[in-house]
Amino acid sequence: MKILVVGAAGNIGQAVTQLLKAEGHQVIQVGRTRGDLLMDIRDPNSLQQGFNQLGKVDAIIAAMGDVAFKPFDQLDQADWQKGIQSKLLGQIQLVQVGSQFLNAGGSITLTSGIIADVPVKDGVSAATINGALEHFVAAVANELTHQQRINIVSPTVLTESYTAYRDYFAGFSTIDADILAKTYLRSVMGRENGRTLKAFSNAGAV
Ligand SMILES: NC(=O)c1ccc[n+]([C@@H]2O[C@H](COP(=O)([O-])OP(=O)(O)OC[C@H]3O[C@@H](n4cnc5c(N)ncnc54)[C@H](OP(=O)(O)O)[C@@H]3O)[C@@H](O)[C@H]2O)c1
Repeated sequence: MKILVVGAAGNIGQAVTQLLKAEGHQVIQVGRTRGDLLMDIRDPNSLQQGFNQLGKVDAIIAAMGDVAFKPFDQLDQADWQKGIQSKLLGQIQLVQVGSQFLNAGGSITLTSGIIADVPVKDGVSAATINGALEHFVAAVANELTHQQRINIVSPTVLTESYTAYRDYFAGFSTIDADILAKTYLRSVMGRENGRTLKAFSNAGAV
C-alpha cells in the first residue's frame, strides 16, 4: 500500500514508519520541516498542494499535534488556539482534504491520547481536544464514501517519552513505540471504522 504518515519524524511516527516499511508498504513521510514531502496541516493550502503533488494514496496516518499544558486558570486564547489549530483542526482538515485523495477502501488513522479518559495535571486543553477528535472520528465515519474508513489511536504515554512527561504521568502504564505502532497497522489493515483504539499499555489496544 501507498501510505502517507504525517509526523513521520516524531516519536510515534518513526515507529509507525518503521513497522509499515517492514511490512512491505511504501511510506511517504510528511512533516513541517523534515520528510519526503513538507506540509503544514494547519494550512489547507499547504495540504492541498501536498496532495496535488502526491496523488492518490491507500492510507493516511496522522501522528502529530501540539497542545498547551497549563493550569486551567492560566490557559489564555493563544494556548487554546495552539491545540485547536494544530492537533484538532489540523487533523480534521487532513481528513477533509485527504479523503479526496484516498483510494476506495482506504483508511485514515488519527491520534488523540489517554488524557481524553484520564485527567492529568495541566491537561484540560489536551483532554478537550482529544475528546473532540474522538467524537469527530465517530461522527465522520458515517459520512465517508467509497468504503473509506477512519479510526483514531489513543496512546498512553510512550515508554520513550516518559522521562520528558513524568510530571504528568506518574504511575501510568507506558507503551513502547514499536508496540504502539501495531495499533496503527491494525487500523490500516483491519475492518474497524469510527473507533477509538485505546492503547493504554504494552498489552496493546482494546
Ligand atoms: N509521545 C507520547 O508519549 C504521546 C502519548 C500520547 C499521545 N501522543 C500524541 O501523539 C501525537 C504525536 O506525538 P509525538 O510525541 O510522536 O510527537 P513529536 O515527536 O513531537 O513529533 C511530531 C511530528 O509531527 C510533525 N508535525 C507537527 N505539527 C505538524 C503540522 N502542523 N503539519 C505537519 N507535520 C507536523 C512534526 O514535524 P516537524 O518536526 O517537521 O515539525 C514531527 O515530525 C501528538 O498529538 C501527541 O499529543 C503522544
